[in-house]
Amino acid sequence: MFGKIISYVKDGNKLNIEFENRKGIIEIITKDIINIFSAFKYEDHFSRAIENLEIKECDYNIKKEEEFLEVSTGSLIIRVYDNFKVDFYNKNLELLCADYKAERKPFLRRGESQLSALEGHKLVDYNNNFKIQVVKELNGDEKFYGLGDKTGYLNKRGYEYEMWNTDDPTPHVESFKSLYKSIPFFITLTGNNTFGIFFDNNFKTYFDMGKENEDYYYFASDDGNLDYYFINGDNMCDVVSGYTYLTGKTPLPQMWTLGYQQSRWSYYPQSRIKELEKSLRENDIPCDAIHLDIDYMDNYKVFTWDNEKFNNPKKFLSDLKENGFKIVTIIDPGVKKEKGYHIYDEGIKNKYFATDKDGLTYVNKVWPGDAVYPDFSNSEVRKWWSNNQKIMMDTGVSGIWNDMNEPASFNGPLPDDVQFNNEGRGGDHREVHNVYGHLMNKATYEGIKEYTNKRPFIITRACYAGSQKYSTVWTGDNQSFWEHLRMSIPMLCNLGLSGLGFAGVDVGGFSFDCTKELLSRWVQVGCFSTLFRNHSALSTRDQEPWAFDQETLDINRKYIKLRYKLIPYLYDLLWHGESTGLPVMRPLVLHYSNDENVYEINDQFLVGENILVSPVVEQGKRVKAVYLPEGTWIDYWTKEEIEGQKSILREAPLDLCPIYIKKGSIIPNYPEQNYIGEKDIKELTLDIYPGNGQYTHYLDDAESFAYKEGKYNLYSFNMSENINEVDIEIKFPHSKYKKKYDNFKIVINSENISQVKFNNANINYEKQGKQIIILLPAIEGILKIYKLQ
Ligand code: GLC
Repeated sequence: MFGKIISYVKDGNKLNIEFENRKGIIEIITKDIINIFSAFKYEDHFSRAIENLEIKECDYNIKKEEEFLEVSTGSLIIRVYDNFKVDFYNKNLELLCADYKAERKPFLRRGESQLSALEGHKLVDYNNNFKIQVVKELNGDEKFYGLGDKTGYLNKRGYEYEMWNTDDPTPHVESFKSLYKSIPFFITLTGNNTFGIFFDNNFKTYFDMGKENEDYYYFASDDGNLDYYFINGDNMCDVVSGYTYLTGKTPLPQMWTLGYQQSRWSYYPQSRIKELEKSLRENDIPCDAIHLDIDYMDNYKVFTWDNEKFNNPKKFLSDLKENGFKIVTIIDPGVKKEKGYHIYDEGIKNKYFATDKDGLTYVNKVWPGDAVYPDFSNSEVRKWWSNNQKIMMDTGVSGIWNDMNEPASFNGPLPDDVQFNNEGRGGDHREVHNVYGHLMNKATYEGIKEYTNKRPFIITRACYAGSQKYSTVWTGDNQSFWEHLRMSIPMLCNLGLSGLGFAGVDVGGFSFDCTKELLSRWVQVGCFSTLFRNHSALSTRDQEPWAFDQETLDINRKYIKLRYKLIPYLYDLLWHGESTGLPVMRPLVLHYSNDENVYEINDQFLVGENILVSPVVEQGKRVKAVYLPEGTWIDYWTKEEIEGQKSILREAPLDLCPIYIKKGSIIPNYPEQNYIGEKDIKELTLDIYPGNGQYTHYLDDAESFAYKEGKYNLYSFNMSENINEVDIEIKFPHSKYKKKYDNFKIVINSENISQVKFNNANINYEKQGKQIIILLPAIEGILKIYKLQ
């Protein structure tokens, strides 16, 4: 398609290459991130994912050889051949990733598929005619991770996917090619190397990860530009950092958003919420937020309240807040078509809605019946939507739940030719569909930020690459199936690798009726996911923690309380994540990519680097096979030390989720609270697993942007161990936030202690079961813990 290389010109960080038939550009973003571009539709990137990209100046060399043009950045060597085929090598000239130079050779599909369609089986729609297609060689052992919220297993090798935001309420199964989110980014891991590819194209895109043929994988699109980034890294963490360098990091949220959240479609009227509030407290279930689904609105009209169900929402929300409960309300994009409804009238007057090809407002159906679609690809419409957030914020709402923003439609899909402003360029639904939710989230974020000056809390169902800057995500309408509990782990792990560090699923399952055993096991996973929300559909069986029996309630309480204990650890991870791009919930392969035993682990995950969780995800199972990677791990419940790099069998009665802490960990804990912020925490507990390790704890006002001006404190703990003693050096490298801790409560998970000294003075300690408790003033110094010899 491109033809032979004719000439090339270096222009700053860009290398412009003239081929016989087209132009191609190699752009050096950093020495490890390279953009491959050819303007098929637009001369520029016109990216919705990448904003304010900092291009790092980098010296690079170009060499022309007989067959190729070679670019070296110091980290990478890139060889460009005729037809814009590009191969990437590391600096030692070891091949990382090569374009497949032959034609694609799909496997043969035998038989007459139309016949099976008669019985309702799906036809395979096979496409070999993409406008843009990049085919890469497979060399045998590649594994693929990322790609957003796709169903199935963690490793995507051997499957095909599509990026087309899809609201499909039938049970999500492995064969789904797409779900609600489009994150055209994946990480390739081979025996020795890893790299990422981000195909920044928001039309429908296609990813075949070696399904069609074991010799290659490809990504492709029907339209848009050839525009992809090759992201090099020494390890998978580097690749995630590189990808989020381009598309943005998950920002630090308000701390309360890490609390337990209770939701259900059908929480109305006001008295039902009061009842809920009472049940939460009576059953001793900590909770920070209650979600109001579409029922709170007047006839499902967004930015309105049904005053029969909620007679004085402002007062009601303020009373709830006094008691520690925040309210999160759902907002759908579909605006009810109804004259006299101010949102509709304003939108019509200003031409804010998408139109058909003749310029008439396009109408489809969602919850309110006939509805129209705000054109979020118009900055004026986004501004209007931002302003509308004020209506919710003024009522006292604390977070916005953006739903149905694929966009969903009940009257068939939006036709391809529905027209959008597309940032003034004009465009149709094919181009805007995948960024519709993304742009709605951006508008919501900007509005909430402006009105509250606090870190906005938004949950979205649909998104595109880069939405992590604006919103948290949940995985949409799962079902109360064990299979969906199982699948939630690879899904959340791959979302995390795809930049969406703040994510969760409907705990207990949305559709279908939950069982007590399923809820008991689900809360054991949910309490470790960043977004922790129990949500279910209307008319399904109740699934609040107390909806079944005493045992189920006790199990829910145990894990929700464990969550509250871990709040400072999770908050620290999010703070770190704002610079590294790493998620809270991580597949083992992220940190142990040299261990082939972890490549396919779908039923375990890490929380940060220190906690390994191996939940039971099968009905009736009371024992779990756990794989512990290299290092020493401590059973959280028994404190038994276990050497890693092996599988073990762990008894797992219904109330026990196998949890392991890495030797050398320091984990901050908060005391029990009904909700975050209930107590003024003056004493920080440090749960310590003696060994060699370092930990930095972060403290700020938990809600505002003052931390961006440096108003925060850092507490650093450096632990080292030898045969005689464990030393912990405590330092405060940054102390600009006015509130400080008074004390540290040091919990040493070891019994064999003879003496403890802090800054050379002997201090008392207390033995409690298998732990030693030490109380220290919160000052800098060196703690020495002498072992019993
Ligand atoms: C969609 C959402 C679900 C919500 C329902 C009603 O199905 O995914 O979470 O409860 O709509 O608003």
